[in-house]
Amino acid sequence: MSTIFVTSSGTDIGKTYVSALLIRQLREKGKPVRALKPLVSGLDEASFAGSDPAALLAALGETVAYENAGLVSRWRYKAALSPDMAAAREGQTIDFVELVNHCLDTARDDETLVIEGVGGLMVPLDERHTVLDWMLELKRLQLRSLLVVGSYLGTISHTLTTLDVMRRNDLEPRAIVVSESLSAPVPLEETVETIRRFAKLDTIALPRNGEPDLAGLFV
Ligand SMILES: Nc1ncnc2c1ncn2[C@@H]1O[C@H](COP(=O)(O)OP(=O)(O)O)[C@@H](O)[C@H]1O
Ligand SMILES: [Mg+2]
Repeated sequence: MSTIFVTSSGTDIGKTYVSALLIRQLREKGKPVRALKPLVSGLDEASFAGSDPAALLAALGETVAYENAGLVSRWRYKAALSPDMAAAREGQTIDFVELVNHCLDTARDDETLVIEGVGGLMVPLDERHTVLDWMLELKRLQLRSLLVVGSYLGTISHTLTTLDVMRRNDLEPRAIVVSESLSAPVPLEETVETIRRFAKLDTIALPRNGEPDLAGLFV
């Protein structure tokens, strides 16, 4: 049993890009893979092609069709807001226990399960729980994780703050992946070097459209 949670310091950073790349690389190595992005907001039929479930379905080799979104994303909301707010717009609340059970039930002994989180590490899911609480509940799957961060101005503090919270909760990520932001003030390697020095952890540079070996971190 192997479960890899892709989490982040924020939204629009590169979690989906990294999840899809990891899924493709695991499949290229002949590993059976499942993927979940259980909570997705900002999803409607018109924008489906550019959505997170579409990217994950493509990486899995499944047909990329709106009707298939439920294969990876059980809870889908139209408003492009944090999941608790997006659910509220539709008169719903996120059932945290169901979310956790859905992940536990999807994990198989002979498969790698890649789970894309939502937003940053401490995005609210309901009145009381954040993504961090969700990750803590999945520890019983011997959870491993990737922390995806950007290379924009300000990322170093966001990254080290997120990492510190993860470590205080005994959730050491396997590595930090620095996905190159569109507006980066310094060359990617400079940001990577600095993060690596402070984090004392594998820190991987992911240039725009790059394909560093991520699967190799886990197999
Ligand atoms: N390293 C990268 N190279 C090219 N495009 C990227 C990279 N990282 C992120 N993107 C693009 O930036 C946008 C936001 O990334 P995404 O993976 O969707 O972020 P998140 O899942 O964290 O919200 C997407 O269009 C994605 O394809
Ligand atoms: Mg995403």
